[in-house]
Amino acid sequence: MLSTVQAKLLIVDDLPENLLALEALIKREDRQVFKALSADEALSLLLEHEFALAILDVQMPGMNGFELAELMRGTEKTKNIPIVFVSAAGRELNYAFKGYESGAVDFLHKPLDIHAVKSKVNVFVDLYRQSKAMKLQVEALERSRREQELLLTRLQATQAELEQAVRMRDDFMSIVAHEVRTPLNGLILETQLRKMHLARDNAAAFTLDKMHAMVDRDERQIQSLIRLIEDMLDVSRIRTGKLSIRPGRFDLTQLVSNLVENFAPQVAAAESSMQLVAGGPVVGNWDEFRIEQVITNLLTNALRYGAKSPVEVRVYNEHGEARVEVRDHGIGISEANQKRIFQQFERVSASQVSAGLGLGLFISEQIIAAHGGTIEVESRIGEGALFRVCLPLEQSA
Ligand SMILES: Nc1ncnc2c1ncn2[C@@H]1O[C@H](COP(=O)(O)OP(=O)(O)OP(=O)(O)O)[C@@H](O)[C@H]1O
Ligand SMILES: [Mg+2]
Repeated sequence: MLSTVQAKLLIVDDLPENLLALEALIKREDRQVFKALSADEALSLLLEHEFALAILDVQMPGMNGFELAELMRGTEKTKNIPIVFVSAAGRELNYAFKGYESGAVDFLHKPLDIHAVKSKVNVFVDLYRQSKAMKLQVEALERSRREQELLLTRLQATQAELEQAVRMRDDFMSIVAHEVRTPLNGLILETQLRKMHLARDNAAAFTLDKMHAMVDRDERQIQSLIRLIEDMLDVSRIRTGKLSIRPGRFDLTQLVSNLVENFAPQVAAAESSMQLVAGGPVVGNWDEFRIEQVITNLLTNALRYGAKSPVEVRVYNEHGEARVEVRDHGIGISEANQKRIFQQFERVSASQVSAGLGLGLFISEQIIAAHGGTIEVESRIGEGALFRVCLPLEQSA
């Protein structure tokens, strides 16, 4: 690794023949020798390159070697370059070179001793290579330290996510168990009751009227079980990206109007009322089954969390979009919770009004997004909520 570092050497002398001779002495394949005939020339090379060593002739016309060395010591980029002075006479050594303490300085005397020149240059080049390699190692260490730090933060984040996921799964399991048990309890009670009547040959319990009511009750319980299971399946379809949208042309006004009509029993059970305001048909290309699922959830929520207040439903088009609004005047949703309710398993109502799995809005938002639309909420705690679904009238894809 050490020898792969190219070392640049600077030699400065006003006589070209001296430069050539010196170059021949110190040149090697892994070294690059730069020659300067004056201090000025040397300075511009010094600013351009990073040198392992500068060999300066002391006696030069204009700026001499010592003056050049002083300038070098005064400049950040060049102040640590080792300097070897080449001098002809001993008396020059009396020159008080101010930068002497601040860096490696050495002397060579003319006539040059070939061996001395080579070994001095070798020493400095080796030093340069070692410090260069050290610097690289320090940098590499610093890099790997930073990488480790990053990894650690990521690990911590993942751990927090995992813990959150485990908590959510546990919560989910207990909610599912509860939600499944409710209709199953209803069904088993009904069954036991009928068994009792049968055991007593009580035909009066099975008149046509009573059978109608029984079948209706059973159907409702079974439907709610199916809906739970469908919702859970939808969540896993969304997770695996397999929620499919099958668009077809239909009238949104018609769909919502049918839904509102079919909701009559739920509206009555919630002791609420539901009113539809719609202009003409709003026709577009959407997945009718999925849009029905979304509106059904919004209507169910409005009744569930509407505190018996009247529910208003609007269908209209605006800004090239089809829009459905469902407004209730119930418990409302705080601003902080308005974001949470679109996440899976999020249920925020404190007054645990017979709630569902907390999946409805999560699934709804995914369905609407898959249509290129949006679903938004406007609400204040205690002042009811307005949910608005916007669907593009012209399907882009
Ligand atoms: N109209 C509303 N008014 C007040 N809070 C609401 C309303 N709609 C939704 N929420 C809050 O948002 C939560 C999430 O709603 P979402 O429809 O996703 O789930 P859910 O109705 O509880 O269960 P699911 O729809 O899975 O049966 C609800 O639990 C409730 O706390
Ligand atoms: Mg819901």
